[in-house]
Amino acid sequence: MYKICVFPGDGIGQEVTKQALKILHTVAQKHHLVFDVHEGLLGGASIDAAGVPMSEEAAELAKSSDAVFLGAVGGPKWDGLEASKRPEKGLLALRQTLGVFANLRPVRLFKGLENHSTLKVEIIRDLDFLILRELTGGIYFGTPRGIESLSDGSGEKGVNTEVYTTAEIERIAVKAFEAARRRKRKVTSVDKANVLESGQLWRKVVTAVQKQYPDVTLDHRYVDDCAMQFIRNPKQFDVVVTSNMFGDILSDEAAMLTGSIGMLASASVGAKTALYEPVHGSAPDIAGKDLANPLASILSIAMMFEHSFQLSELAQEVEKAVEDILSEGYRTADIYGEGCRKVGCEEMGELVAGKIKSA
Ligand code: IPM
Ligand code: MN
Repeated sequence: MYKICVFPGDGIGQEVTKQALKILHTVAQKHHLVFDVHEGLLGGASIDAAGVPMSEEAAELAKSSDAVFLGAVGGPKWDGLEASKRPEKGLLALRQTLGVFANLRPVRLFKGLENHSTLKVEIIRDLDFLILRELTGGIYFGTPRGIESLSDGSGEKGVNTEVYTTAEIERIAVKAFEAARRRKRKVTSVDKANVLESGQLWRKVVTAVQKQYPDVTLDHRYVDDCAMQFIRNPKQFDVVVTSNMFGDILSDEAAMLTGSIGMLASASVGAKTALYEPVHGSAPDIAGKDLANPLASILSIAMMFEHSFQLSELAQEVEKAVEDILSEGYRTADIYGEGCRKVGCEEMGELVAGKIKSA
């Protein structure tokens, strides 16, 4: 029996989590597995109930679980709060509490969605690469940080610091080379070594780690060039390893290669308990309207089967069900195109569950 902690969070996080759990329960029933699911509060939901974005209780629940699922956090309701009190802080604290330093964000174009991207079909057809984002370091967590008054009274200054140590770079580099061994054996490391010292160290350490992986090729790109290459020729990539901030930005860019950020799943690993979340945010503008795409969440559950429970066959079963539903033409609003069948969040979850049951 596996203990799973679930934080639906805010906005569409609530709706997509419901569909993700539907898939979890459908698979469990079919394969006679028992998942002990505990729901907790995180982000804005936690601020409203407990005054903090992540409570001690939530942290304990997450740490004592075998896997954690998160919907999304944030929304205009909490926009006025200072950075350390915002819903996003709950998510950042959760990642750090769990020690999940490696964020896997597969960029995969599902069949049938080729025409939905703004890019030409031949540029993206069969696209399949992996962004490996460092998740518990860099400018997101570096100190000093804060907003302070300038002594001459002319205003304030906002300060953040990009910091990476050898050990932090080594462990994410190892994950990248290991992942590449299960794929096409090509790692692209992305930095800004022409300007930043943290980037110089990043490049030096990744280069050194590669010596233990002679069967994997390594190339380096500056982040600005990489952003351009994603659009110019995304199929050149296999595993892209980069810092927390660059990974955040590049993965949203990559989402547009696959048609919608509503399709992108993620797994954050590196410690005992891994964290699974869709790459998209809480989308307050469409929250509660049954318009959200639950597939990123459903595919994150597939990643949970694979990475936390070593149940790759079940992961494939979920992915196959998603592929089948898409190939039958069912689409949520974000991936809708002419001639398709438009469905809401709930119905999309229902359809995928039905496929799994009947497979
Ligand atoms: C993501 C999100 C988060 C991040 C926010 C919500 C803190 O954008 O997971 O990509 O910046 O890491
Ligand atoms: Mn992001």
